[in-house]
Amino acid sequence: MKIVFATNNPNKLKEIQSLMPNGIEIINLKEIGCTEDIPETGETLQANAFQKAHYLKEKYGYDCFADDTGLEVETLNGAPGVYSARYAGSQRSAEDNMAKILTELNGKENRKAQFRTAVALILNGEEHLFEGKVEGHISLGKQGEEGFGYDPIFLPENEVRSFAQMTIIEKGAISHRGRAVRKLVSFLKSL
Ligand code: IMP
Repeated sequence: MKIVFATNNPNKLKEIQSLMPNGIEIINLKEIGCTEDIPETGETLQANAFQKAHYLKEKYGYDCFADDTGLEVETLNGAPGVYSARYAGSQRSAEDNMAKILTELNGKENRKAQFRTAVALILNGEEHLFEGKVEGHISLGKQGEEGFGYDPIFLPENEVRSFAQMTIIEKGAISHRGRAVRKLVSFLKSL
């Protein structure tokens, strides 16, 4: 089976590829000639994931899936959440976003946070949603060089390492995206 994954983020693409079993091949957006930014203007992760998947289906005609992810920090009332990409401004800089969170949590004891991912699939004219989350804490400073986005400041539960100190396989085994994508894979395998 071949399926299009609607992202222009090379890190997400690598993660998704590492989570796919033999027999499910991911086609990326470059391969179908889509290089533009896909709009994501929804107010929830689910709405954004479906917006991206529908955009692809309507403009390019492919069945596909898309993911949208948010980091939710308890003491910030769930922010940045659906606004995670542009938390520190429209430049969408991971460094600026992490610096903003670390500053906001300065001196705070409660550093609990979670990542949530919504995966939207459009297949044979039907919509399906798969979700995954991982709980953890925001570290006191950046740790590690792997991964992307907020990975250097997120310590998943029961771990002293941040996501950025793990291999792609270690992160995928416990991450929000890994959990959502395993549900997607079981569904695809059941067809
Ligand atoms: P989006 O899902 O591509 O819209 O991502 C929203 C924001 O969360 C961006 O700033 C991403 O860099 C960040 N992000 C998404 N997935 C992850 C992840 O697995 N680890 C760390 N940051 C992530």
